[in-house]
Amino acid sequence: MRTLFHISDLHFGPPHLPRVSRGVLEHVERHRPDLVVLSGDLTQRAKPEQFRAARAFVDQIQVPVVVVPGNHDVPLWRVWERVLDPYGCYRRHFSPELEPVYRDEEILIAGVNTAFGWTFKDGRITTRRLLELAELFEQTPESVFKVVVAHHHLIPPPNFGTQRVLGNAYEAIDLFSRAGVDLILSGHLHQAYIGSSEEFYPQGRPPVVILHSGTTTSNRGRGGERERNTCNWIRIDGESLVVSHLRWHRELDRFAEQSRHWYPRQERVPYTLEGLKGGGVPPMPTTL
Ligand SMILES: [Fe+2]
Ligand SMILES: [Fe+2]
Repeated sequence: MRTLFHISDLHFGPPHLPRVSRGVLEHVERHRPDLVVLSGDLTQRAKPEQFRAARAFVDQIQVPVVVVPGNHDVPLWRVWERVLDPYGCYRRHFSPELEPVYRDEEILIAGVNTAFGWTFKDGRITTRRLLELAELFEQTPESVFKVVVAHHHLIPPPNFGTQRVLGNAYEAIDLFSRAGVDLILSGHLHQAYIGSSEEFYPQGRPPVVILHSGTTTSNRGRGGERERNTCNWIRIDGESLVVSHLRWHRELDRFAEQSRHWYPRQERVPYTLEGLKGGGVPPMPTTL
């Protein structure tokens, strides 16, 4: 049994909401998850002081925290820095690790950096990272619950303005569904969503659950989450996955459950690398 607290899009800087941010720490303190997963956009403008504030926030969390960068963690206006050293500020002031991996006997969490320069506005998963993940999953026992965390989304949620997804999304989903990945976590859209890979990329395999968090601590919520703050509470055991969308309630001064979603853990087909390294994945446009 593992519990994860999935938060995203903190946006330290002008949009950040200090009271809600303290509410995240209070929630962790009260409910004690095994892990916190933070799916990027720690800052608003990738400034040293914003990364230091994000670091101070994460340092107050008394359980392991798995973090990947978002597009806002790469400088937008500091052009030379963006070209020559896009992650320098992140590495110096937040963490040297861009694609962390956490594993124990029950769970594997693999971080993917999807935030690149301006040529990939909607993010991208590199082929290099896909091949690394393929090996990682192959070495991981089937019984271990496998989670991927990336800032950008791999599917276009219904009722959302843009239908674009990150580069190599189809190839990534193809790998993840073959490899028995159970859950993909992301942020970026500032709107919570839960769905399944089979709804968007039907392959006749056990579906991968796809879970988005809204912005947990900023005033940048979009669509139905304008001026709202959301995050996800995830319970995993050998047989099922239970996800609660949480929302910040001003009147309660805390996060509270908004909806609950239950998934049985699917039986997984034994997985090998054969066919993946040889480019066996059929191409499909990622702009739907
Ligand atoms: Fe964001
Ligand atoms: Fe983003």
